[in-house]
Amino acid sequence: MIHATLHQLKVFEATARHGSFTRAAEELYLTQPTVSIQVKQLTKAVGLPLFEQIGKRLFLTQAGQKLLETCQNIFEGLDQFEMSVADLKGMKQGQLRLAVITTAKYFVPRLLGPFCHRYPGIDISLKVTNHQHIQERMAENKDDLYIISQPPSQPDLKVYPFLENPLVVLAPTGHPLAGKHNVPIEKLNDAPFIMREPGSGTRQAVQNLFEQHNIEVKVQLELGSNEAIKQAIAGGLGISILSQHTIISEGTGGEFAILDVEGFPIERHWYAAHLSGKQPSVVADTFLQYLINESPAMAQKFLPGLGQSALKSEELAQV
Ligand code: PGA
Repeated sequence: MIHATLHQLKVFEATARHGSFTRAAEELYLTQPTVSIQVKQLTKAVGLPLFEQIGKRLFLTQAGQKLLETCQNIFEGLDQFEMSVADLKGMKQGQLRLAVITTAKYFVPRLLGPFCHRYPGIDISLKVTNHQHIQERMAENKDDLYIISQPPSQPDLKVYPFLENPLVVLAPTGHPLAGKHNVPIEKLNDAPFIMREPGSGTRQAVQNLFEQHNIEVKVQLELGSNEAIKQAIAGGLGISILSQHTIISEGTGGEFAILDVEGFPIERHWYAAHLSGKQPSVVADTFLQYLINESPAMAQKFLPGLGQSALKSEELAQV
């Protein structure tokens, strides 16, 4: 292995990730024969096959799998080193991989603008997905930081609460219960309802509350997107329960009303989290501090009434 070069490891990692020489070549701006020669040389240095070819697709052998994990550790270590050097030079530079649950997509991009202006050397990739997929990404150590609503018990995480994420009953403006106060939760029985998809944290929270109160709604439609649910509500298909952040742009008074139903809002928080075994990079740590310090003021700007009870930094005990 002492003859393996960093370049060969990069080529191997891209090939393994794509399961294809051609796609690795495209990503790395190399020719396909160059990629396959590099992998061949690396295979020789290892002394065992790294891939098995079945049809057009490449599959990693056991040795290939081990080498892929080693490569990922090496590249992560090098990235960390680069960020630390930039930090020593007084610059914040590097890549930040963020994965956030769907409700946070209404707020996090608004925070990212000023953050990127303050730290122009930081490149951000943002993945928006539901609770279950975030958990899968955590298990594969795909990101530097996560924003979630409900910290899972596995994997082991360090979590930092930073803002409220209330779930509210959303209905079209003309709904008969709109404007009524303290509506008993039983009124939701048999209500035409639009439900998020299995794997969604919102859906889980809603189902828990309904179970607690023996409520059975009539699920008209199941949709995997908060935005699609909003359109369905506006179209008169039913009511739903969504994060209040989903109406950050339009608020109430236009197409949507928040129903004042007993048991609501379901109180939740957003948490920033990272794997507890993983020391956050300089860049991830910079973003974490920024998030904790700036998000309450930003929330008050965009969501007056929310964020007032956002936790203060001194209250940010790790959960
Ligand atoms: P979800 O998560 O996209 O999985 O519903 C949102 C939330 O838990 O706030």
